[in-house]
Amino acid sequence: MANIPRGERYSSVAIAFHWAIAALVIANLIIGIGHDAIPLLRALMGAHTSIGITVLALTAGRVAWRLAHRPPALPATTAGWEKGVAHATHWTLYALMIVMPLTGWMLVSAPASQRPFLWFGLFTVPELPVSKELADLGHNAHGVLGWVMAGLVVLHIAAALRHHLILRDRVLVRMAPALRR
Ligand code: HEM
Ligand code: HEM
Repeated sequence: MANIPRGERYSSVAIAFHWAIAALVIANLIIGIGHDAIPLLRALMGAHTSIGITVLALTAGRVAWRLAHRPPALPATTAGWEKGVAHATHWTLYALMIVMPLTGWMLVSAPASQRPFLWFGLFTVPELPVSKELADLGHNAHGVLGWVMAGLVVLHIAAALRHHLILRDRVLVRMAPALRR
């Protein structure tokens, strides 16, 4: 697993960003989607806002790293349409990693809401200067795009498992943290 040459796997920084953000986004999708029905998840809504702001900050670092470091090419056997779907999914996920936190931040900045909020109880996150109309737009977008993101994440995980279990190539392994180098 660790024997993949450097140029054929993601860098350790890209891998660390990927899995840290994946864990935080999956946690936020579960908390967000379940908070209306499940009291335990409702109790975690304070953490949901802080996790979301963390995703935004990590994504800024990740995108900067990604623009400066070319990822490994997909296997030569990958069909053109598969490359197209993979790239479209990845760039839509990047966009949602920015738009979901921003629309969440807009909705909690609504003039009538309880604000400002604390990042994990440590420091104040300033409110965004939004009107009620803009905050409502953010609220609606946050609800709809949350489901779009959940769908894309399921598709993305299914694609990763297809590569690993059916096509038996190295696409999943090259995004796995190397235990030995
Ligand atoms: C990775 C980032 C985020 C993801 C994936 C995410 C996801 C979600 C989802 C799926 C929902 C449920 C939507 C619905 O069906 O009503 C939700 C609700 C909510 N989110 Fe986020 N969220 C993120 C970031 C944020 C941030 C940064 C804030 C605030 C600073 C925030 C505040 C809220 C609030 C207040 C709700 C409840 C809205 C309501 O009850 O109508 N979210 N979130
Ligand atoms: C919310 C969760 C996740 C998000 C937002 C996400 C996002 C992304 C993005 C944007 C890329 C493209 C990296 C690039 O080349 O710039 C990527 C690559 C990848 N992800 Fe995820 N991911 C998530 C979860 C997962 C999970 C759970 C798995 C495994 C089961 C996984 C496996 C992979 C693999 C194997 C690649 C590399 C694909 C390739 O080499 O072309 N991801 N992910």
